[in-house]
Amino acid sequence: MNELRIAVPKGRLQDEALTVFASAGYAVPGESDLRTRKLVFVGDGIEWIFVKDADVPVYVEHGAADAGIAGLDQILEHECTAYQPVEFSFGRCRMMLIAAPGAPRMTKIATKYPRITRHYLDARQLRAEIVPLAGSVELAAVLNLTSHVVDLVETGETVRVHQLEMQDLVAEISPRLIVGKNSYRTNGKKIRELISRVEAACNATTIES
Ligand code: PRP
Repeated sequence: MNELRIAVPKGRLQDEALTVFASAGYAVPGESDLRTRKLVFVGDGIEWIFVKDADVPVYVEHGAADAGIAGLDQILEHECTAYQPVEFSFGRCRMMLIAAPGAPRMTKIATKYPRITRHYLDARQLRAEIVPLAGSVELAAVLNLTSHVVDLVETGETVRVHQLEMQDLVAEISPRLIVGKNSYRTNGKKIRELISRVEAACNATTIES
């Protein structure tokens, strides 16, 4: 039986997530493995599962994975209650309220993060309709689908090329190692070893919980 099942986010965070685990001494899948369509790999007693970044908190929250690497954006959006023992220095970005210059009063906000956007509005006693989108969110502001958008800004290039303006900070976002509460209780020794190996392997900050 495998000792741990770890969820790796496909997409932007995948390479750095694998580098973290490899530096921590785990036998992660190699490039030739990843070129196949397989989503599950086993090595050194660890089962690695590859899921969309948005789904990592879901697998961990429901106990289908013991741990994973997820952005705070997805952790918050899924109201994931997993422990977040390590915050990484790579992949940091900001979630911003964005609009076209001279945009009308805020009436509609397009976003991949409807729950976070709802919290943002409620905290400021603002009212606006939230329009959920699956991607290319900035286009909603360019084409006046909505007056505003809430989306991630990393380099700022997407905002710049579409001549949009950042109006407010919604949240600072960083990737974290997340660990299911139940896994921590039932498999504490292996999980604690995972946390300390990951911490030791990278330039990471321990989050006090
Ligand atoms: C993300 C995000 C922005 C863009 C920001 O989109 O949603 O659109 O990156 O990055 P930048 O500030 O470096 O330009 P992603 O590429 O993940 O694709 P998506 O639009 O389909 O969500």
